[in-house]
Amino acid sequence: MVDRQPHKPGSIIITGASSGIGAYCARALKADGWTVFATARKPEDIAALQADGIEAFYLDYREPDSIAALVDNVLARTGGRLDALFNNGAHAQPGAVEDLPVEALRQQFEANFFGWHDLTRRIVPVMRAQGYGRIVHCSSILGLTPALWRGAYVASKHAVEGLMLTMRMELRGSGIHISLIEPGPVVSRIAPNALPWFERYVDHERSVHREAYQAQLARMRGGGSKSRLKLEPDAVHAVLRHALLSPKPRPHYVVTLPAKIGAALKRILPARLLYRVLASQS
Ligand SMILES: NC(=O)c1ccc[n+]([C@@H]2O[C@H](COP(=O)([O-])OP(=O)(O)OC[C@H]3O[C@@H](n4cnc5c(N)ncnc54)[C@H](OP(=O)(O)O)[C@@H]3O)[C@@H](O)[C@H]2O)c1
Repeated sequence: MVDRQPHKPGSIIITGASSGIGAYCARALKADGWTVFATARKPEDIAALQADGIEAFYLDYREPDSIAALVDNVLARTGGRLDALFNNGAHAQPGAVEDLPVEALRQQFEANFFGWHDLTRRIVPVMRAQGYGRIVHCSSILGLTPALWRGAYVASKHAVEGLMLTMRMELRGSGIHISLIEPGPVVSRIAPNALPWFERYVDHERSVHREAYQAQLARMRGGGSKSRLKLEPDAVHAVLRHALLSPKPRPHYVVTLPAKIGAALKRILPARLLYRVLASQS
């Protein structure tokens, strides 16, 4: 198939641009020359993006009407075209799997999985019609390996990996490329933003895991892990650029040393040993 991708900045939807990776990438891609359509949920976050000259819209992945409205609004502005989509907005539902009510998993999957699928499905026909497009999903190293106390989030990211890698194969020859970014620890608000979800759904005082939860609570209240190996969101921007513009975008971009170690261990260790090593991390 003829490569019709322009290989230069065009138009892109970026979700979850109120903080962390999305907030950084929206501004960085604008500086790179992209026409950025960013989404947030709170009016003040939408206003902050607009103040930086970015077209910003309301989107909550758990509300299908907001996904439809976003796509209509963006396509009205671009004349029905879109070069790229960066699915990024998500939340983390902490808690041991045995402590998670089904509703916590439903909420996790509405935000991190069903909403991503819905938005992607609305964009694929646009890209098919134009003969090219880039779709990048901000997955996680936890889309490749499990981690203690993060089962809901791990499940949602594994689900994204499975669905989107399948779609990637199905889109062969269409000119549409799908990439997954798998970060490890990156500076953002993901840990403090997880605290209300933990308090809403996990009866932690009565859990058999209540002692282990103390460290998790301290981490969330303290703004996240203090690892020296944590990177700033520019590390994600660097690989996002590659996924968007390279003639040969990669299926996977593993970001941060801890994530690279995790991915390597998964390849080389026997399963039993791998899970023992992972269970020693919390
Ligand atoms: N930071 C890390 O260490 C790390 C590692 C691996 C993967 N990731 C992935 O990176 C992506 C960005 O997260 P982040 O670390 O930058 O965290 P963040 O600072 O918490 O940003 C998450 C963004 O997603 C938005 N969001 C949350 N729920 C949403 C929903 N239902 N619909 C639409 N948007 C929603 C948030 O909006 P509000 O402000 O309105 O809540 C916020 O804009 C996520 O997919 C996350 O899983 C992060």
